Amino acid sequence: MIQKRAAERKDTAIVTLSRVSKSFGSEQVISDLSLNINKEEFVSILGSSGCGKTTLLRIIAGLLKPDSGEIRRRCERVAFVFQDDRLIPWKSVLANITAVSHEEIATNCLDRVGLKEALNKYPSQLSGGMKKRVGLARALAFGGDLLLMDEPFGSLDAVTKEKMIELVVELRNKSGFGALLVTHDPFEAAELSSRVIVVGKAFKKVKEFEFGHPEKRTLSDNMSCAQTLLEELRRISSQSE
Ligand SMILES: Nc1ncnc2c1ncn2[C@@H]1O[C@H](COP(=O)(O)OP(=O)(O)OP(=O)(O)O)[C@@H](O)[C@H]1O
Ligand SMILES: [Mg+2]
Repeated sequence: MIQKRAAERKDTAIVTLSRVSKSFGSEQVISDLSLNINKEEFVSILGSSGCGKTTLLRIIAGLLKPDSGEIRRRCERVAFVFQDDRLIPWKSVLANITAVSHEEIATNCLDRVGLKEALNKYPSQLSGGMKKRVGLARALAFGGDLLLMDEPFGSLDAVTKEKMIELVVELRNKSGFGALLVTHDPFEAAELSSRVIVVGKAFKKVKEFEFGHPEKRTLSDNMSCAQTLLEELRRISSQSE
């Protein structure tokens, strides 16, 4: 089913994975996965811990080679919000961002994530949530036509998280980049995405949900989408046990 849809979307795809597999030693982490991400599409991947999501993003970004299968990118710049922040410890917050963009853009992005006052601090002086926001600011400042986000809102309080979600939506509406979000949170996936892919261990079970444009949905639509996703997550993880 997913292969058939992937073929239908080929024309507008900015990333196409065909039958990708990856193992670490004897552990198969991605098994025969095919998927597309389309131009200007917001896709979320929802799956339990350890099922291979970060590995998939690293493959898409070109940071890791699959053992087999093919990956095609029709995008020029890929921005990445890493799960583990990956800030350069000896550079200030501002210098971490100017490493990938101009100072004016860097300061503007830091302002937008609420870190204007922390420009001259070093990563070791930041809280977990602040580091996450620097990682998000760096990816937004880098720009590009595909934004990969690996649990970017994970350690944020509810209000800050909502603000960061609004910021991503605003910038995406302006620049129209494609986005792939990895999350554990069904509501976050429902709120942001036009398509959500619920995955089981090693992507052996994969189910796609097309929800349409997120801007057209109400809060209660999103809650009902999130409920559907949660039920699918429960179903897939009970089959993976
Ligand atoms: N470089 C590596 N070397 C060996 N094993 C690895 C490596 N990277 C990931 N793994 C293993 O691959 C599996 C999937 O890891 P991955 O980080 O992709 O999971 P995940 O879905 O992102 O999990 P989480 O939601 O907890 O972040 C895990 O069992 C992990 O131990
Ligand atoms: Mg991960």
